[in-house]
Parts: sequence; structure tokens; C-alpha cells
Amino acid sequence: MREEIFGKVDNYLSNLFSLNDDILERTEESIRENGMPEHSVSANQGQFLFLLAKMCNAQRIIEIGTLGGYSTIWLGRALNGKGKLTSIEIDPNFADVARENIKNAGLENTVEIITGDALDIFSELSQNENETVDLFFMDADKPNYMAYFEWAIKHSRKGSLIIADNVIRNGEVLNENSNDEKVIGVRAYNKMLSESDQVTSSILQQVGIKDYDGIAISIVK
Ligand code: SAH
Ligand code: DHB
Ligand code: MG
Repeated sequence: MREEIFGKVDNYLSNLFSLNDDILERTEESIRENGMPEHSVSANQGQFLFLLAKMCNAQRIIEIGTLGGYSTIWLGRALNGKGKLTSIEIDPNFADVARENIKNAGLENTVEIITGDALDIFSELSQNENETVDLFFMDADKPNYMAYFEWAIKHSRKGSLIIADNVIRNGEVLNENSNDEKVIGVRAYNKMLSESDQVTSSILQQVGIKDYDGIAISIVK
């Protein structure tokens, strides 16, 4: 019952704001056609990411976990043709699908999709660039969230945002005896945020057309 109304309100909001245009619909379709996991953020969550990017005037964004590029399109659009978004995807087939969707969205000049394991790519990026990153969106393997955070902190400035998806996991985050590595990963991440003196954070529960989940938003001090 609750789930039904959460989904209906989610659809009401995305229709009200006309969030799903042809490009985003086509992206979701490509994910289904290619049998990829249906783990894109929802349209309302995408709009929220877009808003966060605008609020910190992001020019340099790094995303970890591209899938078909749905969240990438939302974040890429926030750059308004300026700046740069690098999105890292471990699966070369997913990265190919995403590149096509990015091209279709007309974002190929601002968005670069790199294929590889995020931690490997990070060590390469560290050698090549000293620039600071305005916004990180981590949405890949949950056990590595802490490692991604460490890298993000090193490449941030005061006011950079570090955002992590899926930190509530249908409430499984309450289960301190969970054997699920994703739950263990986000529990450790949330705890670390609560104790960190490097960031100020807020963790939001999210409901809607996707499973009951949540997002951690941290600002670098
Ligand atoms: N951000 C996307 C959804 C990402 S789903 C959206 O909302 O539209 C998570 C993605 O992370 C999957 O495509 C998975 O292949 C990728 N992934 C998992 N482990 C990874 C790693 N170590 N490095 C890079 N990408 C990884
Ligand atoms: C999972 C990953 C995601 O990024 C997501 O949004 C939902 C679920 C998962 O791996 O279970
Ligand atoms: Mg996610």
C-alpha cells in the first residue's frame, strides 16, 4: 500500500516537471534491451542530482558507475556545455551503451566515459591531473565506497560535494549482522561519515518508483 502511493507520487512529480524526455526514455530502453541491471536513478533522483550540481556551481564532476548513462546525462546537463564530467564504468559493454546514449544527448564534448575499475582509473587520474573536483557521485560497488571517499577527499576543495547512492538498501542498513557485502559496505560508509571531521553530511531516505533506498550527501569542510 505505501509502496503503491510512493510510486504514484513519484510519477506525479516526474510528469508534473516533464522530467523524462525522449533522450532519457531512450537511455532506459537501451538498458532494458541490452539486459543490463535496471539500477539507474529515477527521474526525480536525477533532477535532484542536477540541482545539487547547480547549487555548487560544479564545473568538474566525477561519477563512479555509469551503467547506461542515465544519471550521467542528468549531471552532464548541469554543466551547461562548460566543464567536464568523467564517468567510470567497469563493464566495457555497459560503457559502449552509455557512450551512445551520451552522444544521443549531445553531451559527447563534456562527458567522457572511461572503461575500467574505478580504483585503477583513480591512480591513473592522480598522476595526470591536479585539478580539484567539485562533485563526486559514487554509485558503483558498495564495498569500495570508503576507498572512493578517500580519493575524493584528496581531490576536493572546501565546499566540494561527495554523494553516495544506495546507502539505505530497503532498510537492511539496520541489520548489523548482515552478510551482504553491499550492506556491510554502506554501513561502514555511513558510520565513517558520522565520525569524519573532514565533511559534514546528511543521509536522506528515498522512496518512489525504485526500491526504498537513500543517498548520502557530504560537503567537504
Ligand atoms: N549511475 C548509474 C547507475 C550505476 S549502477 C545511473 O544511475 O544511471 C552501478 C554501475 O557500477 C554498474 O554499471 C557496474 O558495472 C558499475 N561498477 C561496479 N563496480 C565498479 C568498479 N569497481 N569500477 C567502476 N564501475 C563499477
Ligand atoms: C544496486 C546498485 C545501485 O546503484 C542501485 O541504484 C540499486 C541497486 C545494487 O547493486 O543492488
Ligand atoms: Mg545506485
